[in-house]
Amino acid sequence: MTNVLFISASPRGEASAALQAAEIFRAALPASASFSELDLFAANLPDYTPELASAKQKTMMGADLNNAEASEWSAVEQLVAQFLAADHLLMAIPMWNFSLPYKFKQYIDLITHPGMTFTMDKDGPRGIGSATGTVIYSRGGNYSPKDGVPDPFDFQSPYMNAWCALVGIQPVSEVLVQGTMAGPDAQTNAVSGAREQLEALAGNI
Ligand SMILES: Cc1cc2nc3c(=O)[nH]c(=O)nc-3n(C[C@H](O)[C@H](O)[C@H](O)COP(=O)(O)O)c2cc1C
Repeated sequence: MTNVLFISASPRGEASAALQAAEIFRAALPASASFSELDLFAANLPDYTPELASAKQKTMMGADLNNAEASEWSAVEQLVAQFLAADHLLMAIPMWNFSLPYKFKQYIDLITHPGMTFTMDKDGPRGIGSATGTVIYSRGGNYSPKDGVPDPFDFQSPYMNAWCALVGIQPVSEVLVQGTMAGPDAQTNAVSGAREQLEALAGNI
């Protein structure tokens, strides 16, 4: 059974373009796939308190954690375990100020640690994760490459590609739901324009 973990980074619920696209993907999954969701805006992700920062430092150094540190670090361990258990990561990521919503960045900061989600050897970093990925980007405007030149304001795709490579999510398929704010029907059109690609990707899980 393929374990699909859906990581949702829009707070807009059913009104969200990225979540509407993700629902098309979910509905097209084979019956053999399992599907679970991590809603980053509902998940009450831990903040980086002094205890959490210290727990990270000590864990990386192989030192013992005190009780307060261990208690906060257990939330990180649970998030990492959930991440590593996935065979496929479906990520729904709106563009916020050319980049990721802060909750997705918080998630990245919480789970990206040497020895937990990646290792370093003489050839550089190597991901510990073994999932494939689909990233849905919902964007008010259009940030596709123009004449083969990447849009200089797209700080989503380059960053996500680098992070996915670091932690071992590969290959990664991108689904662009763009121009959602271009008019009254724009979001509906943008989501339905991605339907065929979403169904094909889900069907191959
Ligand atoms: C805080 C914030 C920042 C945004 N920044 C951008 C932006 O830089 N570029 C853009 O095209 N749209 C921007 N938007 C619009 C969203 O990307 C667009 O509405 C998208 O469809 C939202 O996705 P969702 O419906 O899945 O939540 C922003 C929206 C919010 C709430």
